[in-house]
Amino acid sequence: EMKMTPYDAIGEKKLHKLVEQFYLRVGTHPELTPIFPDDLTEVARKQKQFLTQFLGGPKLYTEEHGHPMLRARHLPHEITPSRAKAWLACMSEAMDEVDIEPGLRELFYTRLAMTAKNMVNTHSSDV
Ligand code: HEM
Repeated sequence: EMKMTPYDAIGEKKLHKLVEQFYLRVGTHPELTPIFPDDLTEVARKQKQFLTQFLGGPKLYTEEHGHPMLRARHLPHEITPSRAKAWLACMSEAMDEVDIEPGLRELFYTRLAMTAKNMVNTHSSDV
């Protein structure tokens, strides 16, 4: 049985362009730069691998790095609700830049928004 995944629908080229556009924005966002490294090359490479499998494509991230355990991997970084919102705003702008079919964009963004919410590990009341 042939099954078309969201990864097949977006394609590698567009997904990579999306990730490039996304980190261009992360790299200049005042709320995000304090927690990201100056050189975003490696995180962009990992994000391409991760999003490939997130969208049903080959398990590139897991092959190289093991189980994603994203929440655990984000625990060393202070992720506030405001930073999650900033992350999603960068992603939404990147999606505007790389044109993605509206139905696919909606599905993809909704899943990212759920994941981003789950990464929040610091509330302003903790600081
Ligand atoms: C890594 C921030 C949400 C996927 C990172 C890093 C930071 C970060 C600071 C480490 C960069 C480094 O030093 O190498 C954030 C913030 C988020 C967020 C502020 C807001 C909620 C997400 C979401 C996803 C994601 C929603 C997936 C859909 C990744 C991946 C890595 C990563 C795959 C690389 C992990 C590794 O080292 O193997 N993120 N992130 N992040 N993030 Fe996020």
